[in-house]
Order: sequence, then C-alpha cells, then structure tokens
Amino acid sequence: MRKISLTGIKPTGAPHIGNYFGMYKPAIALTDTYLGMYFVADLHALTTTPTPQELQTLIYEVAASWIALGLDVDKAIFFRQSAIPEIPQCTWLLSCVTPKGLMNRAHAYKAQVEKNIELGRDPDDGVNMGLYNYPVLMAADILLYDSDVVPVGQDQKQHIEITRDIAENFNRIYGQTLKLPEGIIPEDVQAVPGIDGRKMSKSYNNTLPIFAPEKALRKQVMRIVTDSKTPEEPKDPDSDNLYQIYRLFAPTERLQEVRNLYLQGGLAYGALKQELAELMLATFAEPRRKYTELIDDHAYLDAIMAAGAEKARAIAQPVLARMRKAVGLDR
Ligand code: TRP
Repeated sequence: MRKISLTGIKPTGAPHIGNYFGMYKPAIALTDTYLGMYFVADLHALTTTPTPQELQTLIYEVAASWIALGLDVDKAIFFRQSAIPEIPQCTWLLSCVTPKGLMNRAHAYKAQVEKNIELGRDPDDGVNMGLYNYPVLMAADILLYDSDVVPVGQDQKQHIEITRDIAENFNRIYGQTLKLPEGIIPEDVQAVPGIDGRKMSKSYNNTLPIFAPEKALRKQVMRIVTDSKTPEEPKDPDSDNLYQIYRLFAPTERLQEVRNLYLQGGLAYGALKQELAELMLATFAEPRRKYTELIDDHAYLDAIMAAGAEKARAIAQPVLARMRKAVGLDR
C-alpha cells in the first residue's frame, strides 16, 4: 500500500501566498509519491466559536481553494473532519493516555494563559476545553489513518511532537498499536514576508490573498512597504521584502536582471510592484478562474467531500478497531 501523507487545514479564511508556498504547494506535490489525505479541520475551527454562517463560509472557501490550487480530487482524499464519526471516539481513547501536563505545555494554550497573567486576569480566562484539548484532537486526526508523514508549517511542529508522545504512551500502555508519524516541515519557505516585512500572516493583516478581486490584489501589492531610496540609488535585494516576494514569482533570468538593478541602481520600487502584480495575476490565472467557478457550487464541493469521507472512513475503521481491542472495549 502507498504511504499516507495527511494534513488538516483549519478554515481561517482567504488563503494568501504565504499559505501557498508554505503549505498548499508542497502538500499538493506530495500526492505524486504518497496517498494524500487532506481535510478541512472544521471541528478545530469550533474552538474559536465562529458564528454558524462564518463557519459555513470558511469551509467552502477552504474546499474551493484546495481544488482551485490544483489538488487532484480523484487521486487524493479530500474530506471534512466532522464527517468522520471515528474521530471523536479516537480522541477520547487518546485523551485517556495523555498527561494533563503535556497539554499545559502546548503553545497555543500557554500563550493564552501567559497573556491573561500579564493582563492581571484569571489564568484560564477565555480558555475553553476545545482549545485545551486541541492537540489531542489533532493527534486523533493523524493517528487514526496510520499516517506516515504530515506536511505542516513550522508553527505546527510542537503538535506533531505531542502526537508522537501520545502514540508512544498508547503503545507503551496497550502494546504496539499506533504508527508514529513523521512531520515534514519546510525550513526555508516559511520565510515568505508579508507586505510590512513581518512573517505573512492573517493576524498581522499583511497578506497578499490569492483569490482577492483583481483591483484589491493590485492595491495590496502597491502597499508593500519599502524604504525611501530613489530609483538611482543602489539597494540591497536581500533585505528588501518587495524583492523577497518578487523572487517567488519571477522567471530566473528576469530575477537576475532585477537583482543587478538593485545592486547597481536603476530600480524603481513602484514599477517593480506593478510587474509583481502582473506576475501574480498570471501565475494564479487558472486557480482564480476555477475558484470563482467553485466557490458558490456548494453541491459539487459537498459531493467531493462526501466521497472523500467515505474513503477516509474505510482507512480509519480498522485502525479504530485495533485501538478498541487494544484497550479492551472489544474482544
Ligand atoms: N492545527 C493545524 C493548523 O492550525 C490544523 C490541523 C488539524 C492539522 N488537524 C491536523 C494539521 C492534522 C495536520 C494534521 O494548521
């Protein structure tokens, strides 16, 4: 059987080029060698209690994005986490071998507690059990399908380590049952800077969204922050975030030319921004067309995800059966 590469995507809204280079592109490339499993982590999304309407919108945005960006839904298994009833059961079995202290050390929870303490609030203010148990649910996502590899961003590294810890606990207590997954974590691509030079992130409001209307996208590109050097002055491409973004899209030869213009003088930031906008629109022309076509076709997206869920459950069920037997629920 082909090895499984699995990843979950929390539906958090419009994907940007940081997501594309950091996650979508490498994850989609893995479907050449692995059986790719991709799911919309809609249960994880509930930890921040979006409104029902928000959640619905976010789910279809993610689904349309993956398919528009080139995920081959015949080759890969694409589904919604909440369509797998084996997941909550697996989560419980894993919870019972997860030390509470391990969860106390999880970054997202810890950050919230530290923020509360800093503000003089109760340490657990605003912390729901969904946030606290988040890593166990994620471990279930991964372990339930005997996943071999999990492509994720640097920010998810701790969650993979926690997953392995939980699997090891289970195996130690109940005997060899669960497969230990490996994270595939890109070291360099997470360096996509935002328009203000910090890491590109929705929470910094500094993204270049892939599927924004053309006018909005152009406007956002023009907002990329640079220094105030005149075109004639020589500049350092490696410390300029416009160049760092531009290099992701430019053809090799043109990139070399532009690099020389930076170093020798003669580069106007405004003109380069316009060129970048054109390059981005050209690069994503087909995905943008497809996205527009898909985003309102809920029936189609639902059908794709339902078919994926069926395949995912077929992989999950024997693993859950193994777990149930291991703990003594079944003989
Ligand atoms: N926590 C991941 C994120 O925020 C999403 C996720 C949920 C996930 N379950 C997963 C990623 C399983 C990989 C594997 O991006």
